Amino acid sequence: MTILVTGGAGFIGSNFVLDWLAASDEAVVNLDKLTYAGNPENLASLRDDARHVFVKGDIGDYALVLDLLTRHRVRAVVNFAAESHVDRSIHGPEDFIQTNILGSFRLLEAVRCYWNGLDDAEKNAFRLLHVSTDEVYGSLAKTDPPFAESNQYQPNSPYSASKAASDHLVRAYHHTYGLPVLTTNCSNNYGPYHFPEKLIPLCIQNALSGKPLPIYGDGQQIRDWLYVKDHCSAIRRVLEAGRVGEVYNVGGWNEKANLEVVHTLCAILDELQPRADGKSYAEQITYVTDRPGHDRRYAIDAGKLERELGWKPAESFETGIRKTVQWYLRHQDWVNNVLSGDYQSWLDKNYANRHG
Ligand code: NAD
Ligand code: DAU
Repeated sequence: MTILVTGGAGFIGSNFVLDWLAASDEAVVNLDKLTYAGNPENLASLRDDARHVFVKGDIGDYALVLDLLTRHRVRAVVNFAAESHVDRSIHGPEDFIQTNILGSFRLLEAVRCYWNGLDDAEKNAFRLLHVSTDEVYGSLAKTDPPFAESNQYQPNSPYSASKAASDHLVRAYHHTYGLPVLTTNCSNNYGPYHFPEKLIPLCIQNALSGKPLPIYGDGQQIRDWLYVKDHCSAIRRVLEAGRVGEVYNVGGWNEKANLEVVHTLCAILDELQPRADGKSYAEQITYVTDRPGHDRRYAIDAGKLERELGWKPAESFETGIRKTVQWYLRHQDWVNNVLSGDYQSWLDKNYANRHG
């Protein structure tokens, strides 16, 4: 048996592929366009592993996807492929519409065509799992209950709007064509291979390089953090036992204000790799202009996943964040390879007009 993973060279996708092949002998076809966020180095340990077939390509390439599904007799698709960074969606929404909406649509069309040609037993067993985000639900006030699967969609950024559109398409393909889909909406991930444009890896790297740690606005925006390997275990569980057509929220019950997260990073770095001058990395914290339309609070109610499928995260924020800092300290070569020309021009674009 074989599964098709899309976006498997990105942050969560590569963790998923590595964990999958560590736990199972079922082969993975990994389709990734290798945008700036896709990094084959994440999969270097699989170089000589015949169970992993890497294909550079676009989920929007209908013919390619259909060919991969047919040639490999794929029994499930896990769709991670997306443009994923909110700030980039503010500077340039077009790529988000192309991949997250049009790309997802073409992927669904290819999967529908393939699925229609399967025999009844294969049809019943087939799954398409679409990986989505809590951002589709909008922003919570301080005292609101966490997002449940029944919450209304209220996306506020071009990124979350494009993910919401893809979620709706996935839902529609189940209702209209009977495609056996599953959707997961997860909160903020962190851990190994996280691209250093996102808050946690950016702040670790800026701290070590003596650069400012940029806090948007007042730093009191709240995110619900989940260690990436717990997200991967949730996806495996939903793929295995989730009810077809259902949505499952995934989260770590770890609501933290951004400023608290950055102070935690600084404290761990102070302990593991103290600054030469003996001062705390927290001295590098710098308040900068806020993100336009910045969502104030996300929080996930993962109760359905826990009740129905018995899933629970293995890591607390305290254990996960320490592992993450240790990983970045041990993998400075990985970070340095990522910090190439393209990455520098993104930093110039995003931070040039945010005055500290
Ligand atoms: P990422 O940006 O690190 O990786 C995305 C991957 O998709 C990259 O390898 C990229 O090359 C690939 N890709 C982009 N466009 C493609 C296309 N048209 N065809 C094929 N491949 C393409 O993203 P991530 O953080 O790993 O997120 C993965 C998925 O999980 C996304 O769908 C995202 O919306 C969702 N998600 C992310 C988080 C998070 O905290 N990072 C939380 C919840 C949900
Ligand atoms: O909630 C899930 C989402 O989490 C995923 O769907 C997205 O793909 C993923 O990128 C992430 O989105 P966020 O916008 O929450 O993540 P980011 O790391 O960009 O920002 C986290 C918080 O930190 C957010 O409130 C913005 C703030 N921030 C971010 C950066 C990059 C700063 O204060 N300073 C920064 O320099």
